[in-house]
Amino acid sequence: MTRKTAQLVRFGVSVEQDLLAAFDRWMRTTTHPNRSEAIRDLMREQLVRQRWTAGGTVAGAVTIVYAHHRRDLVGRIVDLQHDFQDAIISTQHVHLDHRRCLEIIAVRGTSGRIKDLADRLHALKGVLHATLAMAAAGDRP
Ligand code: NI
Repeated sequence: MTRKTAQLVRFGVSVEQDLLAAFDRWMRTTTHPNRSEAIRDLMREQLVRQRWTAGGTVAGAVTIVYAHHRRDLVGRIVDLQHDFQDAIISTQHVHLDHRRCLEIIAVRGTSGRIKDLADRLHALKGVLHATLAMAAAGDRP
């Protein structure tokens, strides 16, 4: 992913020794190369979460696994996706095995609309798994 180069600003943070030690231990279990990178990622994650909570425009992916032979299920999933075409950017379909399909649905819209889509897909009988991955919509950090 290409990111616009932003001007970096240094700022001081006071933190308890124990908290910093725990943070460093956590950081070593991740791929963050240093504290600055780790803190930047946590800040972005928190801002994305806040946007989702506040009902702003967000982007993400809804991933579902379903049993395609189940009666009427494919038709219901397609109907639902047509009802939500304002929020769906694209759908990738993978035939997992003889019985099961995986769909990755890329979405962008208000968080309420996207959560509604994910919940309604999850509620369909025959949908075995549904997750919603959240990201920023791209116009903010
Ligand atoms: Ni399939």
